Amino acid sequence: MKIASISENIKIEKRISVTPEIAKKYISLGFEVSLSENYGNHLGIEDKEYKDLGVSISKDEKEIISNADIIIQLGLFDDDKSSLLSENQTYIGVLNPYENKDKLDNLVKKNINIFSLELLPRITRAQSMDILSSQANLAGYKAVVESFANFEKAIPMMMTAAGTIPAAKVLVVGAGVAGLQAIATAKRMGAIVFATDVRMSSKEQVESLGGKFLTVSGAENLETDGGYAKEASEDFKMKQEELLSETLKKIDIVICTALIPGKKAPVVIKEDMINNMNPGSIIYDLAAIQGGNTAHTKVDEIVEKNGVKIMGESNILNKLPTSASNLYAKNVFNFVSNLYDKENKKINISLEDEIIDKTLIK
Ligand code: NAI
Repeated sequence: MKIASISENIKIEKRISVTPEIAKKYISLGFEVSLSENYGNHLGIEDKEYKDLGVSISKDEKEIISNADIIIQLGLFDDDKSSLLSENQTYIGVLNPYENKDKLDNLVKKNINIFSLELLPRITRAQSMDILSSQANLAGYKAVVESFANFEKAIPMMMTAAGTIPAAKVLVVGAGVAGLQAIATAKRMGAIVFATDVRMSSKEQVESLGGKFLTVSGAENLETDGGYAKEASEDFKMKQEELLSETLKKIDIVICTALIPGKKAPVVIKEDMINNMNPGSIIYDLAAIQGGNTAHTKVDEIVEKNGVKIMGESNILNKLPTSASNLYAKNVFNFVSNLYDKENKKINISLEDEIIDKTLIK
């Protein structure tokens, strides 16, 4: 079996799908690995490092793609490269199936096996493949670091001979994977942390990390059977708005992570609330690319409203691409191992396996 990956457009995606450590694992499983020239150069990984492991490196991306049985990338190829894919090849990545529906349908019609890893079920067996968790965890951490770097006051409480600096107050909106890591990171740096979510099960998790959970009183628990958030009702939104309007007056930094799978991100931080925040406060919006959790989020811009800075990036993982690639490559390897029938040396697309069934685009 031949597995391959070619360079992403590193202006927009600095992560890679095959690290040297993982190339070695594919080779031990019996795969031939092919990568394009300078594949990991921007992360300080030279071609020689791959070649020494037995990876074949080539300039000819077309040839790499046509010869591969399995292609692993971050996103979907552009149309030119997609047109090189042929019947029975397998393509694995984070393919944004809601937005790329038509393109993916066309590939499926050509009998290409397309797996989109954000569709992985959140079951125990899939945890080692869970790219959403591994990447969200890093994003939550980095959002805190970025917002703290832009904040013009100290974070921890400091008692000095010249006076006391109070601890910064952080609010995390959405306590999923990214939010929980944001809480842990902000706590470690000495902030006082508050968090809120529509899923009541997150209260205990927030509290176990030392955060104070803000409950929207009298509101229903908005959790699906799969553990994701449901879209909030008008009643919930109103109560949440009242709660947050008051809280935000004393908050220095807000980390937004609220998402509803397959939908535009909910606008939780409204214009009025921003107007009531103290000048110098920061909002880091991790939901920016899905439309944003605030009324003013603009992707890859720092918007200033009333002295409050609102930040959000198209791909925060580009700011720690080495860590993100290490985890992503391992997640994908675990996914491929599950797909690979070692005895018969072929991939086995068994729809009885929930992991395969849920991620395969049909
Ligand atoms: P996500 O990225 O889809 O959403 C982030 C958070 O925003 C969620 O906690 C969601 O409830 C919250 N949210 C949505 N709308 C909101 C609103 N209007 N106001 C406030 N908060 C709002 O979620 P993520 O991080 O992917 O986690 C989803 C679930 O999956 C969680 O229950 C998590 O524990 C679970 N999970 C399970 C895993 C497993 O393997 N068993 C692995 C990872 C996550």
